[in-house]
Amino acid sequence: MILSDFHALILVYCMYNAVVKCMANCKLKNVDDEHSMKLLEKLEPLKGLTFQHTFVEKNHHSYNYTLNICTPVSLGNFEDEEKLTGVLQEDQKNVDTPFVKIGRINSTVVKGGENWLMLTYTHGDKYNSHCNKGCDDGSDTKARRQAHVMIVCDPNHLKGDFAVLYEHNIGNYETECFYMMELKSSVACTSVSKGLSSGSIFLIIFFSFAVAYLIIGAVYKRCVYGSKGLDQIPNIAFWKSCGSLQADGCNFLCRCQESGYNSNQPYTGIADDQLDEEIDDEHLLPM
Ligand SMILES: *[C@@H]1O[C@H](CO)[C@@H](O)[C@H](O)[C@H]1NC(C)=O
Ligand SMILES: *[C@@H]1O[C@H](CO)[C@@H](O)[C@H](O)[C@H]1NC(C)=O
Repeated sequence: MILSDFHALILVYCMYNAVVKCMANCKLKNVDDEHSMKLLEKLEPLKGLTFQHTFVEKNHHSYNYTLNICTPVSLGNFEDEEKLTGVLQEDQKNVDTPFVKIGRINSTVVKGGENWLMLTYTHGDKYNSHCNKGCDDGSDTKARRQAHVMIVCDPNHLKGDFAVLYEHNIGNYETECFYMMELKSSVACTSVSKGLSSGSIFLIIFFSFAVAYLIIGAVYKRCVYGSKGLDQIPNIAFWKSCGSLQADGCNFLCRCQESGYNSNQPYTGIADDQLDEEIDDEHLLPM
């Protein structure tokens, strides 16, 4: 009974982990190398969060930017069948085509160091006039947009300030053109506590259950059966038999049977006595 509860808990934990992994929608652009995967894992607490910022240009023209971490941006009037947009630009003055995809989450690059992470969504929509290689062989030379999101450590906030800093669109190559953004978050902090991992949350839940089991069980046995001392421990007979079975197992494995230690006695153990004791308990039931 108790053991099957424990198995159920482990099962729930494994399922939880699997679901979290399935939801990982950021796909690395190049190789899934171990280092980048580790950095992506650090972003896990931010996953699914949405950040918005209105960037006002010198000529007072303003653009709204929406950033999602490893999940696609979804806005009321924005149609996105591919569900890959990581950063979306909205220009409400442009009535016909207000939306431009700045970067896609299936083309993610992630870098990191002490107290910073850099999340880059590449493969955005192509530039119209900027960032043109200018080849005259008629080939498609327009660069694609990309968003660099510099995540800097803010030990006090998971969801800190987000801002679009500037757009760099002077250059001839894709790598020279980018939108520079900054997000403050505790996920980037190296030394400060980064919140609880799912493993430690599981352990906390498990031990909370164990403590609750002990306390409630002890109070129950004390009040209902009037148990005293060690007998207040719930299912004491089971735990004792568990212990003596383990001890017997140890004896069997670790001690030489020829040593004469109880070797010719029948295998009774304390377990049976303890089980009898539990049967005795039944008589105490107030009926
Ligand atoms: C930006 O978003 C705000 C709030 O949603 C809205 O009031 C404003 O009109 C938007 N501006 C642009 C340029 O889209
Ligand atoms: C991401 O998706 C777009 C659109 O479907 C596709 O063109 C592009 O090749 C994909 N990028 C990667 C790295 O798979």
